[in-house]
Amino acid sequence: MRIPRHLAIIMDGNGRWAEIRQMPRIAGHQRGVEAVQTIVEECRSLGVEYLTLYAFSSENWGRPDDEVNALMGLLGHYLRSELETMLRQRIRLNVIGDIRRLPREVAQVLKDTVARTAENREMVLTLALSYGARDEILRAVRHLGAEMLAGRLVPEQVDDRVFSGALDTRDIPDPDLLIRTSGEMRVSNFLLWQLAYTELYFTDSLWPDFGIEDLHQALGEFGHRQRRFGLTGAQLKDSADSEGEADH
Ligand code: FPP
Repeated sequence: MRIPRHLAIIMDGNGRWAEIRQMPRIAGHQRGVEAVQTIVEECRSLGVEYLTLYAFSSENWGRPDDEVNALMGLLGHYLRSELETMLRQRIRLNVIGDIRRLPREVAQVLKDTVARTAENREMVLTLALSYGARDEILRAVRHLGAEMLAGRLVPEQVDDRVFSGALDTRDIPDPDLLIRTSGEMRVSNFLLWQLAYTELYFTDSLWPDFGIEDLHQALGEFGHRQRRFGLTGAQLKDSADSEGEADH
């Protein structure tokens, strides 16, 4: 199986999973956390180096207060209960998004978990929290503008590398594969800059139902995709052949 170096997931469908069962939406999020635990562990054992999960969008702040509070509570609980597993499995926690908007206790436990796991090298687990790609891009533009005003940067220096370096994802490579669950075929303001050449995979499974089999199916499909990065198939074959020759 070809394993993406960086897998990103939009975990959608928790609410519908609960509604179908006439349960409160938060019960769907609780089951969603269980799916997170399964998928994190499986990705790590498969050798995925970077796993990025869209856990809470900038737009999710507009949901009813009790749902927002319950999600924040679940997040704090998840972080506290997973610390030991992250340390044992050598997983480093990373966060992207405007975390200044998170409740103080959640921001604190996030900060602690990021610090406690900072030396781990097995896999980087990035949680996108209070994250929106347009917001991230605007924060980067403001930062670069301020650098220019301070005389530390001139406009001509802003290339792909410099711009990527001003984003929240500065320390992680672009995703190779994006999975979105629950049948919606949108990227919904997730990693808009970083997804430029990412393979997209959509499944009807709702996130709480997304398990190891579903993950393997997505990776199987990823293995059949030819990634051309704007080049022709023949050019890619030539460069693979010459790399092969260089090996001899
Ligand atoms: C989308 O389902 C999911 C979310 C808005 C939150 C995702 C959060 C979790 C899986 C749990 C917390 C995460 C971690 C990392 C502990 P939805 O509510 O939009 O579903 P719907 O579209 O069916 O209403």
